[in-house]
Amino acid sequence: MCGIVAYVGPKDAAPILLEGLQRLEYRGYDSAGVVVSNRGLKMRKVKGRVADLAAVVPARFKGTLGIGHTRWATHGAPSDVNAHPHLSADERIAVVHNGIIENADELRAKLEADGAVFLSETDTEVLAHLIARTVEDAESLAEAVRAALKRVVGTYGVAVVDAQRPGEVVVARNGSPIVLGIGEKEMFAASDVAALVRYTRQVVHLEDGELAVLKADGFNTFSSDARETAKEPLTVDWEAGHYDTGGYEHYLLKEISEQPETVARTLRGRLDDRFHIAHLGGLNMDARESRSFRRVKIIGCGSAYYSGQIGAQLIEELARIPSDAEPASEFRYRSPVVEPDTLYVAISQSGETYDTLAAVQELKRKGGRVLGIVNTVGSAIAREVDGGVYLHAGPEVSVASTKAFTSTAVAFALLALHLGRVRDLSPADGRRIVQGLRALPGQIEEILTLEPRIKELAGKYADSPSMMFVGRVRGYPVAREGAQKLKEVSYVHAEAYPASELKHGPLALIGPEMPTVAIVPDDELLDKNLTTLGEIRARGGRVLMVGHREADPRLADDCLVVPRNEIELDPILLSIPLQLFAYHAAVALGRDVDKPRNLAKSVTVE
Ligand code: F6R
Repeated sequence: MCGIVAYVGPKDAAPILLEGLQRLEYRGYDSAGVVVSNRGLKMRKVKGRVADLAAVVPARFKGTLGIGHTRWATHGAPSDVNAHPHLSADERIAVVHNGIIENADELRAKLEADGAVFLSETDTEVLAHLIARTVEDAESLAEAVRAALKRVVGTYGVAVVDAQRPGEVVVARNGSPIVLGIGEKEMFAASDVAALVRYTRQVVHLEDGELAVLKADGFNTFSSDARETAKEPLTVDWEAGHYDTGGYEHYLLKEISEQPETVARTLRGRLDDRFHIAHLGGLNMDARESRSFRRVKIIGCGSAYYSGQIGAQLIEELARIPSDAEPASEFRYRSPVVEPDTLYVAISQSGETYDTLAAVQELKRKGGRVLGIVNTVGSAIAREVDGGVYLHAGPEVSVASTKAFTSTAVAFALLALHLGRVRDLSPADGRRIVQGLRALPGQIEEILTLEPRIKELAGKYADSPSMMFVGRVRGYPVAREGAQKLKEVSYVHAEAYPASELKHGPLALIGPEMPTVAIVPDDELLDKNLTTLGEIRARGGRVLMVGHREADPRLADDCLVVPRNEIELDPILLSIPLQLFAYHAAVALGRDVDKPRNLAKSVTVE
């Protein structure tokens, strides 16, 4: 996904911009570029990696103000010309842009009719032309940018510089994140705090419709109608070191391995051993309010949605409130009935996923009460919701979600415990869950010691053209997430089905060439699950069972035995070996593990 970095201050901008762009590489991109201002604009941009860009930036590329970009092609193929920044014809204005300008064709046609010559196929170039047309007569660059953005339909995060105003950068946001970084007599901006944390921890998030003017000695923010807005800086607790691989070969493996610590952080200070309840101060709900909901609806996308399915199961079991999860991307398009006695919960690692944000905004518009379970402090979704739970899992760099998935499921266990204990969950059951939660970090540690065996199994199964994942009730979301992880990082086709549904259709697929990963916890459904394994084996299907005991060799070819927790919490642990399985399958197949093809870390477009 596209990335933006901007700098103004006393230092040379280019190395700062390049470093910032490198920090955004994890989001996925196909080309990169920078502009610095020094008696005119100097630009370099290339198709390829940030390292390729650095190689063509000459030593004399001096200037203490600049903007940089990593592009993920939407309008026009990846190429040097389509890479950002884009300049106006007179090379006075340079623009970098994330998002999509929906009326770009129409604006382009009008500009062309008026004599403009376009160099690229991008939607962004129209902005450079539009701003250049008004900047001469405008009182400020901000005014010219605002006027141009008024003509745009679509989403944007933009950064703009004007060769004739070499002391300022203008940035603006509508649907695509922009964060300001406050330094010592220097200012930064970026589309992601990852690009800022090496320089500052003091940040300001722009809201949709806001615009900011950055100068070395500070910044001003304005609403879309040019009124100045007051912003409180926020201190982020993510450090530059969090963005390093820390000696691991891939971020994905690092993030899987971090989970004992990240889960401990999600739990820290939230468990009460006296009343056997979870304290979640950020919910902003008293006990009476917590008791008032008759339904819980959970929304999120992709892996966040699957962790929401685990969450729905937990809330239904522990709090006895009917709960279900739905992809936010579907929910927002179907004009949902928003009920006053339903508690809505939006999940997002990045806090910027556009579909989830749009669903939250729709809910808020209709008066819904929305909580967020979010990893990124101060992100758009976190700011939009009425309250919520931060994961404190630290930044997730690898495109495939692992530690955020797990921490979200843990956060749901906390929420379910909280809602349960203000309703009918007994102190004894509360104590059982508190103890189970406390045991999780140590048990994840134990599961990680299975890595050599999981690697061996991944090698054994990775050359299958397709794999089936099955689970029943609590095991079904685990199976879905297991299939999702495998397909996205290894590109092996994987399908997840409720084990109970196999005989209603997909059993026809089973044969020696289609192995099955079966999630078989030791719960009340064990016998049913073992019967399903028998049905698979009877059709010549190979079975890798993930559960709490070794299976009869007639039922499973291989078994991965994980430690047992409370049955409600077992799905959290059963998911971990599947993350390692997907990782090692991807490595065995030589995939780009941290940046799978066609995917971006946070999907800030529709
Ligand atoms: C899969 C994955 C995605 C995300 C989804 C939502 O491994 O990472 O499916 O879970 O795009 O992202 P967030 O949680 O940032 O809203």
